[in-house]
Amino acid sequence: MEIGWMRNQRQRQVLVFFVLLSLSGVGAELGPYSVVEETERGFFVANLQKDLGLGLTEMSTRGARIISQGHKQYLQLKVQTGDLLINEKLDREELCGSTEPCVLHFQVLMENPLEIFQAELRVKDINDHSPVFTEREMIVKIPENSPLGIAFPLSNALDLDVGSNNVQNYTISPNPHFQVLTHNLSDGRKYPELVLDKELDREEEPEIALTLTALDGGSPPRYGSAQVRIEVVDINDNAPKFGQPLYEVHIAENSPIGSLVVTVSASDLDSGVNGKILYSFFQPSEDISKTLEVNPMTGEIRLKKQVDFETLRSYEVDIKATDGGGLSGKCTLLLQVVDVNDNSPKVTVSALTGPIPENLPEIVVAVFSVSDPDSGDNGKTISFIPDDLPFLLKPSVKNFYTLVTKRALDREERPHYNITITATDLGTPRLKTQHNITVLVSDVNDNAPAFTQTSYTLFVRENNSPALHIGSVSATDRDAGANAQVTYSLLPPQDPHLPLASLVSINADNGQLFALRALDYEALQALEFRVGATDRGSPALSSQALVRVLVLDANDNSPFVLYPLQNGSAPCTELVPRAAEPGYLVSKVVAVDGDSGQNAWLSYQLLKATEPGLFGVWAHNGEVRTARLLSERDAAKHRLVVLVKDNGEPPLSASVTLHVLLVDGFSQPYLPLPEAAADPAQADPLTVYLVIALASVSSLFLFSVLAFVAARLCRRGRAASLGGCSVPEGHFPGHLVDVSGTGTLSQSYQYEVCLMGGSGTSEFKFLKPVIPNLTSQ
Ligand SMILES: *[C@@H]1O[C@H](CO)[C@@H](O)[C@H](O)[C@H]1NC(C)=O
Ligand SMILES: *[C@@H]1O[C@H](CO)[C@@H](O)[C@H](O)[C@H]1NC(C)=O
Ligand SMILES: *[C@@H]1O[C@H](CO)[C@@H](O)[C@H](O)[C@H]1NC(C)=O
Ligand SMILES: *[C@@H]1O[C@H](CO)[C@@H](O)[C@H](O)[C@H]1NC(C)=O
Ligand SMILES: *[C@@H]1O[C@H](CO)[C@@H](O)[C@H](O)[C@H]1NC(C)=O
Repeated sequence: MEIGWMRNQRQRQVLVFFVLLSLSGVGAELGPYSVVEETERGFFVANLQKDLGLGLTEMSTRGARIISQGHKQYLQLKVQTGDLLINEKLDREELCGSTEPCVLHFQVLMENPLEIFQAELRVKDINDHSPVFTEREMIVKIPENSPLGIAFPLSNALDLDVGSNNVQNYTISPNPHFQVLTHNLSDGRKYPELVLDKELDREEEPEIALTLTALDGGSPPRYGSAQVRIEVVDINDNAPKFGQPLYEVHIAENSPIGSLVVTVSASDLDSGVNGKILYSFFQPSEDISKTLEVNPMTGEIRLKKQVDFETLRSYEVDIKATDGGGLSGKCTLLLQVVDVNDNSPKVTVSALTGPIPENLPEIVVAVFSVSDPDSGDNGKTISFIPDDLPFLLKPSVKNFYTLVTKRALDREERPHYNITITATDLGTPRLKTQHNITVLVSDVNDNAPAFTQTSYTLFVRENNSPALHIGSVSATDRDAGANAQVTYSLLPPQDPHLPLASLVSINADNGQLFALRALDYEALQALEFRVGATDRGSPALSSQALVRVLVLDANDNSPFVLYPLQNGSAPCTELVPRAAEPGYLVSKVVAVDGDSGQNAWLSYQLLKATEPGLFGVWAHNGEVRTARLLSERDAAKHRLVVLVKDNGEPPLSASVTLHVLLVDGFSQPYLPLPEAAADPAQADPLTVYLVIALASVSSLFLFSVLAFVAARLCRRGRAASLGGCSVPEGHFPGHLVDVSGTGTLSQSYQYEVCLMGGSGTSEFKFLKPVIPNLTSQ
């Protein structure tokens, strides 16, 4: 701009100069002189006096002077000598700019006479300016892969100097890609042109900085430089490329949705859109689409749903990276699902036998398998059952187990077992599954019925009503079902003659015992038989128990008077001396009762007497004694009726008639029995042998009492002649009732009975049982 302005200035000055010239109408008459610009003041240019051919002083006398255009006086004239000197430094560029040659016109004016001479001064250029680039930095955008030889014009440099001092040549800093050519413009100026020598690759070198130097033709040359920044413009010549061709990733199953699987990354050497990458799955399977999602911008791949190792253990998918120019690259994602112990073992019972019979050794109870879909330790299982059970877990083929019994089972001990099979895996944490199996033990008839008692004792009263329930037996069976159903029965009696079946019966179902007919204590005091209990097993088992039926006595027998005999051929008459003391033992009523116990306790009382008050009867023993002294006045014959009554309820009784004859004589005082005379062999007491034989004829339940009483009244000093009683003499051996072929139970008792006395204190007393074969008297 400034330069342009200066150029305008100069043009104006030159224009003025030419106007003046044309006014004067004269051409250059002096010169041309020349001077190099920037010459110092006082420099000698020419001697005008000599050039004008004037005399020595003529110039001064004629008042010669220099007229210059413009304000500055570049020249001075020494009028004395006529020397033309430089008055002020000349700057060619200021004076002429680019105009060449640079000519300054001036006039030499002389007065007296007026004379004007045209003169020229040429100002010669020196190289005092360096080339200058108006742009300190030039930016050149060149697409990569541009063809070789392509040229890019650059801005030129300016140099105020002219001619060869102006810019002559351009050079560029050494580089492999470019050279610079210098071109001529029509006005002679030169401009640089950048020419591509070697292909550009933006991805390799996106920017190249060069220094452009302009040289002028001075000697030495001056130069100026500018920066040339070459920006290599991208073209989409690179496809996106993944950092690795295969991404192998492990992810734990059950990872939450949204978990980051991996971030894939591709790079594109291109820039801008050409380098902008979008990620996507390449032809994903349906599984992949459901499971994974990729962030197109960041390449983050996340879970869309949970992965399950047991369903799918790995996923493989290609991932595509596409740049804005449509080029793409691929990589492969291999996703391995890592197992997590998320499955408990599964117990599958494949065979379960029904109830197992007791008493059998090792039996297979169940077959089952254990599975765990996890892998590794997570899928390894161990199984066990509680060891306090009589069962054993036996591993069989792969993951199969059999549950067997350890030993024979006893249903009665335990009828069923709840077996908990526990299967755990070896993962962390361990997962476990329990499976319960109930094993029923089925019954085998291995227990006989057992009676609640080994023997039963039942009481009954005799004379019962027929079909009376007399009691029950009971047996239980520890087995089950039919094996425990008990049937009762009467067992055949040991005595084959006992008509058991006609006496008692048993309810087969409940063991109730019934008397089939009325029992007679006097015929059968006790009955012993065995009952059986049998179960319904096969084979059946049975057991037995003893039943003892004790018949209870009822008062069904009246007292029976043994003495005195009532209907003997000679009625018994007791003789009593009139001199007898009070309390004299007249007789003794002896009676028996077929019953027993209280029913057989007899008491005696005097029912009737010819002379009341003369005789008394002892209630307990039936002794008949005198109650007072006898006198002559008392009648000789007396008749007494004695009532014998038992203690039953109601009481039964019998009466007996006694005949007493009073005779004259003395009574012998009663002599107590000496101690030593207690022995019946030495003493001679009133001994009564009483043999009672009781016999019963079982078939008819008839009771008969055959009583043989041998009463030997052996009162000292009194022989049998005293009494007129018809008493069979001699010893009666124990009477044994014939055991006939009809089956007769017999019992025989023989007692030695001693009636001691002679006085009122004597007693009728059982001494001892008599053993028949020892009584040899
Ligand atoms: C320009 O400069 C270059 C390098 O310095 C040189 O090779 C070449 O000859 C020069 N050209 C001219 C016309 O001086
Ligand atoms: C440019 O000019 C120079 C002299 O200034 C000359 O030597 C050269 O041949 C010219 N080049 C062209 C291409 O005209
Ligand atoms: C076995 O399990 C059943 C049902 O759960 C239960 O009724 C029974 O009492 C259990 N038996 C044993 C011996 O635990
Ligand atoms: C198995 O039996 C055990 C013990 O009786 C009980 O605690 C558990 O709940 C049962 N398991 C199943 C699945 O019935
Ligand atoms: C005695 O009389 C009874 C009935 O009064 C009779 O049964 C019995 O046979 C008789 N005894 C004798 C020996 O005559």
